[in-house]
Amino acid sequence: MKAIIPAAGLGTRFLPATKCTPKELLPVLDKPVIQYVVEEALAPAGVDGCVIINSHEKPQIEAYFSEDPAFDALLRSRGKDDLADKVRAAESLPVSFVYQQEPRGLGHAVLCAKDEVDDEPFFVLLGDYFVPDKMMNKHMAEVSKAHGGASVIAVAPVEPDQVSRYGIIAGECVGSLDGCDATGEQEGAVWKVSGLVEKPSPEDAPSHLFIVGRYLLSPRIMELLQTQAPGAGNEIQLTDAMARLLEEEEMYAVVVDPAEGCDTGTPAAWAATNARLALADPASAVAFREALGQTKLV
Ligand code: G1P
Repeated sequence: MKAIIPAAGLGTRFLPATKCTPKELLPVLDKPVIQYVVEEALAPAGVDGCVIINSHEKPQIEAYFSEDPAFDALLRSRGKDDLADKVRAAESLPVSFVYQQEPRGLGHAVLCAKDEVDDEPFFVLLGDYFVPDKMMNKHMAEVSKAHGGASVIAVAPVEPDQVSRYGIIAGECVGSLDGCDATGEQEGAVWKVSGLVEKPSPEDAPSHLFIVGRYLLSPRIMELLQTQAPGAGNEIQLTDAMARLLEEEEMYAVVVDPAEGCDTGTPAAWAATNARLALADPASAVAFREALGQTKLV
């Protein structure tokens, strides 16, 4: 099974930093954002590779995941084997690339990987967000297994005035993750999805549950995307094709706590994520607390 990671965007929110550096390669501590996403994507049993949807303007991403024997030899000749091993760990990840010729929306980006998924279910992970404990996709896979291999998305409650920024679901709560008694909009609650709408106005939103950017999808979605007309923002929307998939197949949603993950979608969120991981990292925490004027551990 493959995981698709769309990464063809321009990263305008991070300009000027992203003029020459893809936003996916901005570091959180010493690793680029996209490596955290790839490592998360590979966590559920059965996922054996990531397909990154890239644009030709950002060759640095493929270079990052490609072997560089001369650089490896240079590091080792200088006794920096530990760093060479870290570089090699990234190069060894099972990552392949597909290039999107023009930006036409998330649905179009996912469709670019049609030939890579081999008629199997696949994950989609949006790359502005990663989950350090990597449990979200595992829970989605469990829900899918419990419902005969149905498509599953991760959702979370959002304030009513924010619904127009996201894909929103309609449906009803039908249970919970194994061993958890959550209901309604609580973390762990499982919903049977009856409708999906991309970026609705607050009056038209069928619920307050938004799609957080983690999907486990039936391969049928690829065929539907081939005939999907542009929707919100005049883009080919994954959510619109999923709404058509619902007419043919069951779909479930699992309620997650988005705060379990780390947001890197804006400079402020990216800085906060760096702070969160620095405080949790023994090698960085002391220096980081000193910089904040907190010399004592709290
Ligand atoms: C995309 C999806 C949307 C989802 C969101 C999560 O929107 O189309 O359904 O809720 O990601 O971040 P975008 O952020 O690309 O506008």
